[in-house]
Amino acid sequence: MSQIESVLVENRVFPPSEEVVKRATISGMAAYEALCKEAETDYTGYWGRLAKEHVVWKQPFTSVLDESNAPFYKWFADGKLNVSYNCLDKNVEAGLGDKVAIIFEADGGAVSKVTYKELLSRVAKFANALKAKGIKKGDRVIIYLPMSIEGIVAMQACARIGAIHSVVFGGFSAKSLEERILDAGAVAVITADEQTRGGKNIPLKPAVDEALTLVGANSPVKTVIVAKRTGGACNMVAGRDVWWTDAEAGQSDVCEPEWVEAEHPLFLLYTSGSTGKPKGVQHSSGGYLLHAALTMKWTFDIKPDDVFWCTADIGWVTGHTYITYGPLACGATEIVFEGVPTFPDAGRFWKMIQDHKVSIFYTAPTAIRSLIKAGGDLPKKYDLTSLRLLGSVGEPINPEAWMWYYNEIGGGRCPIVDTFWQTETGGHMITPLPGVTPLVPGSCTLPFPGIQAAIVDETGHELEWGKGGFLVVKKPWPSMIRTIWGDPERFKKSYYPEDLGGRLYLAGDGAVRNAKTGNFTITGRIDDVLNVSGHRMGTMEIESALVANPLVAEAAVVGRPDDLTGEAICAFVVLKGSRPSGEDAKRVIKELQDWVGKEIGPIAKPKDIRFGENLPKTRSGKIMRRLLRSLAKGEEVTQDVSTLENPAILEQLKQAGA
Ligand code: WTA
Repeated sequence: MSQIESVLVENRVFPPSEEVVKRATISGMAAYEALCKEAETDYTGYWGRLAKEHVVWKQPFTSVLDESNAPFYKWFADGKLNVSYNCLDKNVEAGLGDKVAIIFEADGGAVSKVTYKELLSRVAKFANALKAKGIKKGDRVIIYLPMSIEGIVAMQACARIGAIHSVVFGGFSAKSLEERILDAGAVAVITADEQTRGGKNIPLKPAVDEALTLVGANSPVKTVIVAKRTGGACNMVAGRDVWWTDAEAGQSDVCEPEWVEAEHPLFLLYTSGSTGKPKGVQHSSGGYLLHAALTMKWTFDIKPDDVFWCTADIGWVTGHTYITYGPLACGATEIVFEGVPTFPDAGRFWKMIQDHKVSIFYTAPTAIRSLIKAGGDLPKKYDLTSLRLLGSVGEPINPEAWMWYYNEIGGGRCPIVDTFWQTETGGHMITPLPGVTPLVPGSCTLPFPGIQAAIVDETGHELEWGKGGFLVVKKPWPSMIRTIWGDPERFKKSYYPEDLGGRLYLAGDGAVRNAKTGNFTITGRIDDVLNVSGHRMGTMEIESALVANPLVAEAAVVGRPDDLTGEAICAFVVLKGSRPSGEDAKRVIKELQDWVGKEIGPIAKPKDIRFGENLPKTRSGKIMRRLLRSLAKGEEVTQDVSTLENPAILEQLKQAGA
């Protein structure tokens, strides 16, 4: 039985306990339904009310939603605010100055803490350093930093002066960095000498140097600020590169926030789509902040005494919303972790939960699956009784992993919020609320109040419950993507396609609702996007990287199910020379894997590479991807292959390359 089938027949239900309901901010199904009803009867009234209650405005808005240029929607457009003010000053002014904002645990185990007051002065000081370098409102700044307090300071400092940050995950290559620098037209890069993960030092600054060499003579980048993490060797280019501490020297730790319009872009975050290059998803300031704060309060039910830990990296959207912005906007205490879950052993997460008395823990199914495999008994060695709520994000969680998480980590006491959302949505879209929703392993259950999710067919008609189709959102919502940076047409085509009538947001995922409960289950991407360990990868991107190698004539990339990573990347490759075998094939596979690692980043390396003299194509010359998917899975080929020019290549492609 496939994973999806097993989710659809899942009949275990876990209603919230009385104690959880009593404590929860949104308490009981009736309260949830009342919110949904309020949104349905007065959509703008509902979001307007919440935006007044959960965001501090310098200048209040009078317009809630402007649809005049749909699908380029505007929210709270005449309001002004500053996101960093909402995350820092607001809390200090409310008397939380001495509360710990961040507990940072380094890869090697060293712990440091920063209070709200300290974080505010560090952000202000660094914001002044950025200003002194001529960086101003609207400028784009690339952040290529490890998980660190500096990473959060850099992001918040950009927000403070109205600069638009674009964080690039430290696992991306120099080539990927170059593409993003150019696309964003960045004026500055903030990086570190090296990062430390699993006891190993990995250089970062050399990748920036390489990227800037690739960018070439007319580089828009005037400044590179380098944080010292390990003291590893760094080549500092005079006039361009400056150490973080030197940039800060002499700067005041007071910085008046730049009050920006609600629609002013807070950040760009590059993500993979089905075609071409990664796209710069543009988010707003006001609407984004509202949803970050609201989902912290309703989905995570955050309370003043909680210790919140989201294990994502700030290079992904989860790290933006649930590390840099959401928890701080709520005055919470949160953990920031530099290392990896399996170092020094697979008990690291559980030890950290015990040591820091974590009460809310948010991680990805891929981490759960790998920790079950690497040390399923390890949680028993630690005291996990501080936990009261668990979360999952990034990919579908299989019911078995869900049950293990629920019993072994949550002790059968803690609700699991399986939160479905995307880089483009800014925050949770479909998710249980702990004090409301009966949980079903493998289902993200019901829409967040006010989010009008539905399932439609290929013409945009809503389907009855029980029928699978495309997941859409029927109405704009405050934290939605505003556009693709520099490419508004691609934004429209990707997310508001005319086939569906041009007014439905197309998520790119398939989904089905349970015929009785209406619970949503995500059945996987409907486009050529893979989800490997919760990381989004475009098959076309990997194909372009492969064919850029001088050995390669043609390549097709598909996903296949993988017990650990959810999906694994499988590449079918035609070489310009003859089809390699034996040791020769092994050598070419290694070479191509390393090549993709350099072109995109290690996370994009194909796990499985197979060689053929050709690829299977239809009469019109289209690659038969479905057939390749069957081959990758090792399934019997049931498709019609009578049109294949050379059926013998199927035999070749069935064979793993090495
Ligand atoms: C998938 C991550 C099932 C989905 C926040 C989506 C999920 C893509 C879930 C977005 C979930 C995310 N259940 N699938 N709870 N959460 N996905 O942009 O395919 O990195 O479209 O955002 O991850 O990935 P992204």
